[in-house]
Amino acid sequence: MSEYAQLIIDGKEHTLPVIEGSEGEKAIDIRSLRNSTGYITFDPGFGNTGTCRSAITYMDGEKGILRYRGIPIEHLAEHSTFVETAYLLITGKLPTNDELTNTSVMLNDFSLLHENMKVFYQNYPPKAHPMGILSAMVNAMRSFYPELVDIDEELNKTFLRLISKIRTMAAMAYRISMGHQPVTPRPDYCYCANFLHMMFDSAVVPYVKDDDLVKALNVFWILHADHEQNCSTTAVRVVGSGKVNIYATISAGISALWGPLHGGANQAVINMLETIHKNGMSIEEAVARARDKQDPFRLMGFGHRVYKTYDPRGKIMKQMCDIILGKLKINDPLLDIARKLEEVALEDNYFQEKNLYPNVDFYAGIVLRAMGIPTNMFTVMFAIGRLPGWIAQWKEDLTDPEMKISRPRQIYSGNTISDYIPIHKR
Ligand code: SDX
Repeated sequence: MSEYAQLIIDGKEHTLPVIEGSEGEKAIDIRSLRNSTGYITFDPGFGNTGTCRSAITYMDGEKGILRYRGIPIEHLAEHSTFVETAYLLITGKLPTNDELTNTSVMLNDFSLLHENMKVFYQNYPPKAHPMGILSAMVNAMRSFYPELVDIDEELNKTFLRLISKIRTMAAMAYRISMGHQPVTPRPDYCYCANFLHMMFDSAVVPYVKDDDLVKALNVFWILHADHEQNCSTTAVRVVGSGKVNIYATISAGISALWGPLHGGANQAVINMLETIHKNGMSIEEAVARARDKQDPFRLMGFGHRVYKTYDPRGKIMKQMCDIILGKLKINDPLLDIARKLEEVALEDNYFQEKNLYPNVDFYAGIVLRAMGIPTNMFTVMFAIGRLPGWIAQWKEDLTDPEMKISRPRQIYSGNTISDYIPIHKR
C-alpha cells in the first residue's frame, strides 16, 4: 500500500490512505472514516480541509506562489491578456492565434444585452449597490437564454456569453446610477477597452482609448481571475454540485464575493484609508487599533487564509499604482497612507507573529480610483475578473467523477430530546 495514516480510536487502529498532488501536497483521505469509525472530522471554515482535486490553480502560501494551469501569475500579468488568461483557465491550454481571434469575435458578438433586461435597471433605487444588481442580472440570464444543450458547443457559447455580458451589465449599472444613458460597445475595441468605453464615453467628452490604462485593466483582471478554493469559488462549487444552472451558480458566487472579508475588502480598504485621512489618524494609531481585539477597526487588505507571506498579486498591484498614478500624474494621499501603513505594520510584531501581509486588495482600490472607477464598483471589478475562474471551477466540478452533491456533516450542540409543552402550560 502506498503512504497511509494510522488513527487509533478507542484502542482500535484505523488506516487511512494518503493522497498526493502534482506539487507534492499531501492529504489524508477520510472518505471512509465515518463508516469505519463512526467519527467525522471537525474543521469550521475548512482551513485544513481539501474539498476537491483541482488542476486549475496552484498556490503556495508560504512561498507566495500563484500559477494558473502551471504558468506563474507574474508571467501572465506581464505577457498575457485577460481574454487569453480566461481561455487558459477554462480550457486548460493557451489559445492558438485562431482560437483567440474566434474567442474575441464571439465576446464582441455577445456584448449587447437583451432589451427586456435593460428594463430591470430602471426599477432599482439610484443608490442600489451594483453587486446586488449584478447578481440579480446574471441570475436573470437563465430566463433569457436556453439551458445548456450540448455540454461542449453550447457550454463554450454560454461561457463567452456570460464573460461578455457581465462587463456590459456592470458598465450599465454604473451609467444608470449616474443618470446617464448606457453606451453601446464598439466592435473594434478589445474586451478591456470596450469596458472602459462603456463606462466613460460621453457625447461631451468622448472616451479616448489609452493603451496603458487598457493594459492596466488587463493586468487587474488577470490578477483576479482565479484563486483555487476561496470563499466565492467554494460557493460556486457547492451551489453547482446540486446541478443548478450556471447562471444561478455564478450569481451565488457574486453574492459570496460581496462581503468585506472577501471581495468587498477592496472597497473596505479605500473606506479605511479615507477614514484615516479624513480623521487625521496617525499610522501608529491605526496599527495599534488594528491590533486591539476590543476595537472593531481592522487593517483591511491585510491578512490571508493561505498566504503567510506577501500576496504575489499584491506586489504586482503595488507596482501598478506607481505606473498608473505616474502616467496620469495623480498624487493620491491615500497611496502615501497605504505605503506608510504597510511599512509600519510589517515592522510590527503583532503582524509579524500572525504572518499578516498585504493581500491583493490592499492596493487594488488605489489603482481603480486612479482609473476613475467609483468605490462602490470595486467589488464588481473583482467579480468580472473572477468570472473565468468560477466558470473553470464549476466545469471541473461538473465533470469530476469523484465529485457529488456537497453535504457536510456537523457536531450537534443543541437540546437533547424534550417533550412538546402545550402553549397554555408554558
Ligand atoms: C480575498 O481566500 C482567498 O483566496 C481570497 C482572495 C481571492 O482571491 O479569492 O485572496 C480574496 O478575499 C483577500 C482577503 C480580503 N480580506 C481582507 O483584506 C479583510 C481583512 N483580512 C481579515 O479579515 C483576514 O485576514 C482574512 C479574512 C483575510 C483571513 O481570515 P482567517 O484566515 O480566518 O484568519 P483569522 O481571521 O483567523 O486571523 C488570524 C489572526 C486573528 O487573530 P487571533 O484571533 O489569532 O488573535 O490574525 C488576526 C485575527 O484577529 N487578523 C487581523 C487581520 N487579519 C487577521 N488582525 C488585524 N487586521 C487584519 N486585517
